[in-house]
Amino acid sequence: MNYFTTVDETHLEAFRQVLGADFVLTTPENLAPYAHDETEDLHYLPSVVLKPGSTEQVSRVMEICSQYHLPVTPRGGGTGLSGGALPQHGGVLLSTERFNRILQIDERNLQVTTEPGVITEVLQDAVKERGLFYPPDPSSRGSCFIGGNIAENSGGPKAVKYGVVKDYVLNLEVVLPSGEVIWTGANVLKNSTGYNLTQLVVGSEGTLGIVTKIVLRLIPLPKNDLLMLVPFRSAENACAAVSAIFRAGYIPSALEFMERDALEWAVKYVDNSSVPIADDVQAHLLIEVDGNYPDLLMQEMEGIAGIVTEFDCGEILFADDSVQKASLWKLRRRVAEAVKANSVYKEEDTVVPRAELPVLLKGVKEIGARYGFHSVCYGHAGDGNLHVNIIKGHLTDEQWNGSLPKGIAEIFELVKSLGGTISGEHGIGLVQKPYMHIMFTDTSMHLMRQIKKAFDPTGILNPGKIFD
Ligand code: MLT
Ligand code: ZN
Repeated sequence: MNYFTTVDETHLEAFRQVLGADFVLTTPENLAPYAHDETEDLHYLPSVVLKPGSTEQVSRVMEICSQYHLPVTPRGGGTGLSGGALPQHGGVLLSTERFNRILQIDERNLQVTTEPGVITEVLQDAVKERGLFYPPDPSSRGSCFIGGNIAENSGGPKAVKYGVVKDYVLNLEVVLPSGEVIWTGANVLKNSTGYNLTQLVVGSEGTLGIVTKIVLRLIPLPKNDLLMLVPFRSAENACAAVSAIFRAGYIPSALEFMERDALEWAVKYVDNSSVPIADDVQAHLLIEVDGNYPDLLMQEMEGIAGIVTEFDCGEILFADDSVQKASLWKLRRRVAEAVKANSVYKEEDTVVPRAELPVLLKGVKEIGARYGFHSVCYGHAGDGNLHVNIIKGHLTDEQWNGSLPKGIAEIFELVKSLGGTISGEHGIGLVQKPYMHIMFTDTSMHLMRQIKKAFDPTGILNPGKIFD
């Protein structure tokens, strides 16, 4: 039995009254693109796609959905990796794609006010033109929305020096499931005023409210950067080098790890033969430093190069110019797509204290050997954030659906025993929900459910995400 009301003509007519018929989509061709995101091969068809264009319209839509008890799934760019924007219960898919305006860049206060449907790279470029920097930088930056990044508390390569989305969000306009509209905080850098509703909404995966305006803090844009690609003969050594770099006093602006397969598959995928990978190389670190003083950056690079050579690395490739830097970054950003193009896969988003990374990698491979799966690992090593892509390859459907979840649970148990957690930046959504009990006691889960209830007493907003 469906707990929710099925969308019917009465509801559609009410939506048309609020939005106009053009923004109420119901034909199968129109609904199909909203049935999936970038998570594995999951598909859930909504009954209707709504495209509101203002906070008032979102509010009216939520009032109608509340009144009739219709499930509502908010959606940004559809690039999510945990199924957070999938309408598992059908019903209303609320797309934020018309919320695509940057409202104000406040150069005096280094802040930007934006709507949630702005593509992340568009926002980054707009502030860059004013000499300002918005560092969170997911690989999907060319198509993901800033609103989706807030829902998932996204990170990306720069997080190691500059922090993740939560570190930049100052204030949010949010439409609650009831249709009421609130601002969560104030446009200030410090705030000790009551509970922090802003940070509660960040990372809540669209389960508490629909974000309609966002105030972000910005920082001055660093003027220079240097990049190097370091090959290692042992993947565990590459991971061990990561914490040594920080212990020696350096904070790179990116410190990315790629297992051999990750880089090799990306090289093939983008058809770029300019990066030779020697036969004995098992992994790479892509290391960037940034700042305003080229001489200092050069010294930092030399210092870091000295450290990595203690971990049995091969010949270091220093990017000569912006073209080579862009080409190396392109390879790194395309790893996920390359893996996807190669095989059916499941992606885990493990994160541990960074010095535990070698133990995590070793453990993932041992668990893989026991369960018979191959994994391609890469990620934001500087943050201890390892993306583990489990490849279906020759596994049978029985192994894939039957025993693999036990293997994944073992990986997560290992992560927990190392002091880590099961998602660093992709969220829980649908796919990691069965593993939440590994991280949280019943008491903690109860608290989370109570918070959900306080925002969404009838449970209509993004149902089935994070927990049932
Ligand atoms: C990345 O690091 O490339 C992104 O998180 C995407 C992914 O891992 O699938
Ligand atoms: Zn990532």
